[in-house]
Amino acid sequence: MQAMRLIATQVLKNERQYEGGANPRKTLQPNVYEVGAPLEAWLHYHHEMAYIGSSTTMVSFMCNKIPAEGGYTFVSDNVAATESILATPFGQKLKELGICYHRDLTDRDSFIDRVEYGVYNHWQQSMLTDDQDQAIAEARSRGLTAEWGEDRKLKTRYTISAFEYFPQVDRNLLYSSMADDGAWFDTWPLVQHLPPEDRPLKLTFGDLTEMTREEKQLFIDIYDRHGIPIPWKVGDVALICNYRFAHGRPGIHLKEGEDRELGVLIGESFNRLQTFEDKW
Ligand SMILES: [Fe+2]
Repeated sequence: MQAMRLIATQVLKNERQYEGGANPRKTLQPNVYEVGAPLEAWLHYHHEMAYIGSSTTMVSFMCNKIPAEGGYTFVSDNVAATESILATPFGQKLKELGICYHRDLTDRDSFIDRVEYGVYNHWQQSMLTDDQDQAIAEARSRGLTAEWGEDRKLKTRYTISAFEYFPQVDRNLLYSSMADDGAWFDTWPLVQHLPPEDRPLKLTFGDLTEMTREEKQLFIDIYDRHGIPIPWKVGDVALICNYRFAHGRPGIHLKEGEDRELGVLIGESFNRLQTFEDKW
């Protein structure tokens, strides 16, 4: 893993720590994070860290263990996905209204000696502090509105464009997905049983109106239509431009004795510019 990391960091400069993440990532080795999702969960296409003001330009995966068949990561051609979505009324609505990310982060102290039913990430882990005031301050410094809910849940809201300007192609590109909706948990152990309104994530339009089921399905289908597999072999290093591609994978079901382990590096930060009127 460290040898792959040395190669990846020739391209991916100024790695960032995975603070503020939605999901609980642990380190596999120094500076190498795990993917942070159960294997059986279906990971919808997404742009890394699209849900906070400080996003990342690049993400790298390093293949340490892989089953004999499958276990692929997929990338979706985001220029094609952008064109496809803007050709629909839903895409035009996204362009006009923007989106709002709703997150309910659970309290770690409420789950001591309890099975973590309904837990995605604790605010202590996401905000890297045990202090409630500091957690609020940290969330606000990231441009989120934040308040405490029942059971010391930290409820954050963030309204932003569904698109992001990409300087290298000089265009606004799609920069949001159903990975930030309750649908992310449809195949997630200990959370999938919850009804949508109780799940830790939710995506709405920027004016807080709900997306219909058909609109959500279209959002998923558009990325799927432009998917490209990465057929992993142990030792492979992938460097993925976070604007040009979304990434994701279906659920993985290993055979006995098989394993899948990818290391993740998060690239240089950038502050989201959102969109420019003359760059559609
Ligand atoms: Fe990711």
